Order: sequence, then structure tokens, then C-alpha cells
Amino acid sequence: MPNNKSEKPSEKLAENLADLKSEFVSGIAAAVDVAAVDAVRISALGKKGRISLLMKTLGKMTPEERSVSSPAFNALKDEIAAAVEARRKALEGAALDARLATETVDVTLPVRAERQGHIHPVSQVMDEIIAIFGDMGFSVADGPDIEDDFHNFTALNIPPEHPARQMHDTFYLLEDANGERKVLRTHTSPVQIRHMMNNPPPHRIIAPGRTYRSDSDITHTPMFHQVEGLVIDKATHMGHLKGCLEEFARAFFEVDNLRMRFRPSHFPFTEPSAEVDIGCKRDGGELRIGEGDDWLEILGCGMVHPKVLEHAGIDSSIYQGFAFGVGIDRIAMLKYGIPDLRAFFECDLRWLKHYGFVPSDVPTLAQGLAR
Ligand code: DAH
Repeated sequence: MPNNKSEKPSEKLAENLADLKSEFVSGIAAAVDVAAVDAVRISALGKKGRISLLMKTLGKMTPEERSVSSPAFNALKDEIAAAVEARRKALEGAALDARLATETVDVTLPVRAERQGHIHPVSQVMDEIIAIFGDMGFSVADGPDIEDDFHNFTALNIPPEHPARQMHDTFYLLEDANGERKVLRTHTSPVQIRHMMNNPPPHRIIAPGRTYRSDSDITHTPMFHQVEGLVIDKATHMGHLKGCLEEFARAFFEVDNLRMRFRPSHFPFTEPSAEVDIGCKRDGGELRIGEGDDWLEILGCGMVHPKVLEHAGIDSSIYQGFAFGVGIDRIAMLKYGIPDLRAFFECDLRWLKHYGFVPSDVPTLAQGLAR
């Protein structure tokens, strides 16, 4: 429409600015993504944008004209800038929502089998042992892998000249500043001593952990695992030892009428001492636990020697009890039919996939130890 001649310049300006504003506002509303909003912003407020060009005309105006135009231009500029910003935020929020919707993860879905990690049989068997003894009221104790001569040998009634020191194929560390040679513990028995020295009796603990001997062949590795057991109070006797270990072996091998025999043996730290065998059957290459007439040794045990109690500061005229030591790797091999000990420590993923356990199979007595 042609402009009405009687129209005042200020009215005309207002009308033009209103047109410009509605043009930009509808452009902003129609923008479907952040790039489109940006295009509108540049066409309005960019260096050569239409509002920017308008702003430049202020310099050539008379002060009167400027006093009307300047606030009007600035108001338009602010309104468009705010509208651009609001639309950009809305579009960014919508884009994020859309992305989140497509990337939804259902954490209740089962893990894909090929991606799942596995629990090493040694860890699984340690957890099984802890579940069984935990149920019998034992707690878990530990000690250092680097031991001193006193805890690893002397306190366990193995004096310096004792032949058992040679039998242990000990790894010795270099002499320290005091002339002392520490050792890598050759068994978990030193944890008995540490526990008795640091806690008042009675005691009922197991101590699973790493042990070391300089020995390597198909049935020995320089690092292996044992679990130690110790029960000390005023009246514990050999009958308790037998009952406790029978309960353990039956629960561990999951054979209710497992045959067992306690064979007299010798350890410096127990008197009397015994080794425990379980019944088995060797059928060609296969080994069946709990059947047949053969025997398989699984652990050493005995009544704690009074000298050991005295070394650990316990009055042996009041307290007595039993101890036992089990090779964890060995009973893991027996239970799960794993043929070669060395494979335990070779970190072969295919082996671990085959012999390892699903992490959610936490051993408990109520649900079965391993499923
Ligand atoms: N410490 C022994 C070893 O390494 C195992 C052992 C035997 C531990 C008899 C004991 C025990 O506590 O009573 O071969």
C-alpha cells in the first residue's frame, strides 16, 4: 500500500520496524535446527545484517531523529537477539532429548556373553572357602607376603638348623641395613603367629593368600596359594579338628558322604599332625571325587604345638587348638577338573573363558557354591 502522505515520519518508522520484526520472528520460529537459527541471526544482527545496517544510519541523523530512532532500533535488536537465543536453546534441548532417547541403555538386560569378564578359578575357590568357613564362624585374617625369619620359621618351631628350612625352597631377599634377610613367605602359617600376637584368644580364623617357593614343574609354580586355618580356645581337641575339616571337605566338593581319612604325619608346628585324604576313583584319565577306593591328599593339619603357642605369647597350659593348611590351586584343579597347574598363571584369555566363572555366581552355601 502506498504511504499516506499525512503520516508522520515516526509512525512510518514504527511501522517499518514492526514489519522487520515480524519477518525475523517468523524466520526464527520456522528454523528447524541450530544452523537455521544462526542463519536468521546473521541476516539480522551479523555485520551486514539488516538491523546492523539500520544502526549505522543513526550517525547520519539529526539529533532529533536519532532520539526517536535509536531507542527503537536498540529495542528491536535486543528483541531479535533474545528470540534467537531462546530458539537456539529450545532446539539444543530437543536435540539432546532426541539423542538421549536413541541412546537409552537398559541396564537390566543381560550382558552379552562374548563381552563378559570371568572370575579366575583361584578367586572363585577362595570365595567358596570363605563362604564355607564364614558359615562356621571363622573370620578372615591376612599377613604380608614378605615375611621375616621369625614369623615364617622360628615361631612355627622351625629353628635355624631345622631341615624343614631346606625343604621349603625359600626365596630370600637381599640383606637389609640391619643384616636381616627377609623371605617371601613359604606358607600361610606365619599368619597364625601374627594373628595370635595381635589379638587376645580365643581365635577362629582362616587366612587365604599367596605363597612362594623356588620350585617349578607340572605340579609346582613359584607362586601358589594356600589357606591357613587356626582355632584356639580352652577346650578345642582333635575331634573338633576332624569334624571341622569333614564339614569343609563335604561342602567344598559338594559330596555329602565323602570318604575321608586322617593319616598320621609330621609338621614341626603341630603335635600330633595328620594329612587328610579324600576318597576318589581314577578311571582312565578321569578323576571322580567321592567314588571308588583310591585316596587323594588334600591338606595338612594338627593340634598346634605348645612351643608355637608360647612363641606367640599364649599360655599353653590354658589354651590349645588346631591348625590346618590347604593348597588352594590343588583343590581348585581337583574340583573343576583342571589338568595343568601352570595354566593358572599364564593369563590366557581362552583358558580363563573356559575355566573361569561368571561374576554374578557369588558362592554362597544357600544357593550352591558354584553353578
Ligand atoms: N604350612 C604347611 C605347608 O606349607 C601346611 C600346614 C600343615 C599348615 C599343617 C598347618 C598345619 O597349619 O597344621 O606345607
